Amino acid sequence: MNIVTAKGLTKDYDGLRAVAGVDFEILRGECFGFLGPNGAGKTTVMRVLYCFITPSSGEMRVFGMDVTGDPSAIKARIGVMPQDDSLDPDLTVFENLIVYARYFDIPRKKSSIIASELLSYVDLQEKAHVSIRNLSGGMKRSLLLARALVNTPELLILDEPTTGLDPHSRQVVWKKLTDLKSKGTTLLLTTHYMEEAEKLCDRVAIMDGGKIVTIDTPQRLMEIHGGNLEEVFLKLTGRHLAG
Ligand SMILES: Nc1ncnc2c1ncn2[C@@H]1O[C@H](COP(=O)(O)OP(=O)(O)OP(=O)(O)O)[C@@H](O)[C@H]1O
Ligand SMILES: [Mg+2]
Repeated sequence: MNIVTAKGLTKDYDGLRAVAGVDFEILRGECFGFLGPNGAGKTTVMRVLYCFITPSSGEMRVFGMDVTGDPSAIKARIGVMPQDDSLDPDLTVFENLIVYARYFDIPRKKSSIIASELLSYVDLQEKAHVSIRNLSGGMKRSLLLARALVNTPELLILDEPTTGLDPHSRQVVWKKLTDLKSKGTTLLLTTHYMEEAEKLCDRVAIMDGGKIVTIDTPQRLMEIHGGNLEEVFLKLTGRHLAG
């Protein structure tokens, strides 16, 4: 069954067509990746999907529901790790999780337990009562991952989950995402790291200039076009993936 279906989806920002008619489907249980240079439209597609912005035209359905119809029913079942740091700097690490849990009507006692578990999960338990301002960039990414898991989402959306992480931390996140997938969570991610796409993604959509150039498994793309994903992109668009 499709978890996500996009048909002819576009998004315009003041005359700029950020997403120019994309079609794709995400199947339950898979890891689907978006690859593309800076400005390709990846984050914009994610934002429509998690009901943060509305599409200009076309259709996006998540769990069979239209994103313009009942956003709260969709949001209840997804987790989002945004590209930018959207943590509340005036709160501690622990409080950030508790406040976020309120959006999902999780009772205080339960949210406290979930927050502690998630902080251990991302190895931030020692920072629980520290201000967000005193976290390193990598720690903030870890906390954003923990926050995305507060409501035990069926679909986890990760916009550049490992950007800015050191190689060890990146491996740790890969392991967590692999575990989540093995437990049945559907994953949607964007990345600039080809190794990440190859390791994690069952299928990738290669995006450029607001359009999807191709969708396939990383292995098939490399077989059909020869070379690694970076070279595949260069062959398909005449441009470099890294932007
Ligand atoms: N809020 C906004 N208002 C106006 N234009 C925007 C807005 N957000 C994105 N854009 C524009 O839409 C286009 C696509 O941006 P988007 O953030 O989706 O790209 P991306 O593929 O995620 O890039 P990156 O790899 O740098 O994260 C860009 O031209 C960008 O300038
Ligand atoms: Mg982006």
